[in-house]
Amino acid sequence: MHPALIFAVATAAFHFVALIGYERVQRWLALRKFAREHNCKSTQLERPWDVLGLAKIVSATKHLLNGTTLSTTTMLFDRYGDTYSSKLAAQRVVFTCSPRNFRQVLITRFADYDSSRGIRDHLFAPITPHGIFALDGAEWKAARHLYRDLFSRTRVIFDPAAQEAHFQTLRRRLATDGSTFDIAPLFLNLTLDLTTEFAIGVSADSLRLDQAADKRLFVDSLIHTKKVMARDGFLGPVHVFLSKKEFHRSCNEVRRFVEVVVKQKLEEKRRVDEKAKSASVSDLATVPEKHWSSLLEGLVEHSSNIDELRDGVITILIAGIDSVASLLSTTFWLLARHERVYKKVREAVLQTAGHEPPTYDMLKSLTYLRNIFNEAMRVYPPVPFNARTTNTDTWLPTGGGRDGESPVLVKKGERVVFASWGSHRNPKNFGEDAHEFVPERWENLQADALGFIPLQPRAQSVSRPIEARDGREWTEKLGLNLSNNNGTLIGVTTDPASM
Ligand code: HEM
Repeated sequence: MHPALIFAVATAAFHFVALIGYERVQRWLALRKFAREHNCKSTQLERPWDVLGLAKIVSATKHLLNGTTLSTTTMLFDRYGDTYSSKLAAQRVVFTCSPRNFRQVLITRFADYDSSRGIRDHLFAPITPHGIFALDGAEWKAARHLYRDLFSRTRVIFDPAAQEAHFQTLRRRLATDGSTFDIAPLFLNLTLDLTTEFAIGVSADSLRLDQAADKRLFVDSLIHTKKVMARDGFLGPVHVFLSKKEFHRSCNEVRRFVEVVVKQKLEEKRRVDEKAKSASVSDLATVPEKHWSSLLEGLVEHSSNIDELRDGVITILIAGIDSVASLLSTTFWLLARHERVYKKVREAVLQTAGHEPPTYDMLKSLTYLRNIFNEAMRVYPPVPFNARTTNTDTWLPTGGGRDGESPVLVKKGERVVFASWGSHRNPKNFGEDAHEFVPERWENLQADALGFIPLQPRAQSVSRPIEARDGREWTEKLGLNLSNNNGTLIGVTTDPASM
């Protein structure tokens, strides 16, 4: 090679390296200044020798497979304090169960974090690319605003008769002769039927033995889709090596089924609008007050974009089914072991609704039932972990230094995992009996951070306490939501006088 050319290449390489070095130094200085300004100190670091974070991946996978993720989480918070860091695939991840840090991430410095990018956008893109779980920033805000508006009008959609019909179908599927059965899969079917009816106005009919073939295919596809999403979420980058053929087939089937309903609803709306246009003023005066038969009906008032509408309601089918099924199964698992609580809530339901199906207002007034759900979600949170990625350099108020009381620097692009599992069971937050199921504690606590649609228990069909038929401990099963790996084995004996 010509010496001049060698010189030119060497000079270019030198400048390149110098430029990178300069930028690194500038960045390091800026971070140091930022950390000083906020009095940040280092957190404890799990396995400091695991620079690439490969041991963490191996141990996380092992605990997931063995069903020991939650006990290990508790152990790590006990060992390192409420906030510590780990290396995961060469990236620093901050784990926290400190309520102050939760507040900082979710409220005070909310804008510093993305909830989708790099965390769940890739999981949701094949099924709901336009849905809220795949969005951040202004798009997320707009979607959130719309849901909040629609959910504030749940009363308009709530149809006690439809809900009661699904409950009665469940009731017919229960073994009421005292034999042992697992109620958890039936609760999944119930929430599938309730939520599809609520979201798109067409029930999946999964509790019915004569379910139509296209609905069965839709339900199987939805369940498969969620299973793969949960698996890939936990596997992280490794998931790219697994076949996705069946997953994409399932996503397409779910989207096809929902899209048919969306198009029908849009066509219905077009006809109604046309009729309204041609109606005389006197006709308009007699138009009845609007009642939505589903969330979709509310959504078509805001958009006529098929992609947005389809993804908007599929999002609800992903978010609202397993979470509620997990809550119901856990609640019944607990009620079967706490006869006092069972009797007390049964009495409250009877006093409020008697032997009739409860109305929306009756359900809202059942404070003790709400306390039971809050307590079940506290002890066994359906979503025990969540995560955010920072979109700028930021800090957490606590977790740094020897005493764990100083602020902590979190650099742009780093991840914060916040574990309700840790905070819910921490005696510092809930007292010495934090591990116990005591619904009465909610008489003095606020639960407005927990959003759920109350379901409607009816007391008349089961007058004796449900019996626990499983001596085993509650055992974790982590999917999209947390549930008991052993199901909810119970025995129910119906009092013939109440039939
Ligand atoms: C026990 C029941 C439920 C639990 C524990 C639960 C929990 C959660 C959690 C932890 C998130 C993530 C929030 C975030 O990352 O910021 C979430 C998001 C969401 N959930 Fe639920 N959920 C439940 C029931 C429902 C139901 C019944 C629906 C709808 C009918 C629903 C609709 C949504 C939606 C639309 C989002 C996305 C909101 C957002 O990104 O801001 N959820 N839920």
